[in-house]
Amino acid sequence: MAEKIRVMLSETEVDKRIDAIGEQISHDYAGKQVHLVCVLKGGAFFMCELAKRISVPVSLDFMSVSSYGGATTSSGVVRIVKDLDESLDGKDVIVVEDIVDSGRTLNYLLNLLKERKPKSLKLCTLLDKPDRRVEHVLVDYTGFQIPDEFVVGYGLDYDQKYRNLPYIGVVEL
Ligand code: IMP
Ligand code: MG
Repeated sequence: MAEKIRVMLSETEVDKRIDAIGEQISHDYAGKQVHLVCVLKGGAFFMCELAKRISVPVSLDFMSVSSYGGATTSSGVVRIVKDLDESLDGKDVIVVEDIVDSGRTLNYLLNLLKERKPKSLKLCTLLDKPDRRVEHVLVDYTGFQIPDEFVVGYGLDYDQKYRNLPYIGVVEL
């Protein structure tokens, strides 16, 4: 049976917020080039929308990680399923994620990427659930802070479904 989805953040709200983040990044990186690193699969929709709104030169790369542990909690030990194609050496890198939850995945990933000698390394996430944080993660750009509810859409999935929803919704079982 299909689940019901309650809208938490409408398409218009999300798009407006991405406009603002794109503007902020364009301002912060004036005269530079930004290298966006997308964490697949969840970060893909957000990264594409964000990249279109950045007015300084942009290059893109993708990586895919899977965290060891249960289905709903991440252990923080991350396995790289698909690594980046390009080196980060000397680049102004922004990691683009769908959501920071416990922070375990990002904490691990950012430490790993730091070792690759980027000129700078920042984190941009569409959603942040601060109440769920276990590991400290410094988030440079946040779309929305949301309460502790399981959300889907704009890249986020429930059992691999609903990534393509153009808004953020809550699954009502
Ligand atoms: P963390 O290591 O706990 O921060 O895990 C973050 C990852 O868990 C995200 O990249 C998502 O893939 C997944 N996740 C966390 N919360 C949600 C949610 O509300 N909906 C869908 N996926 C989520
Ligand atoms: Mg993710």
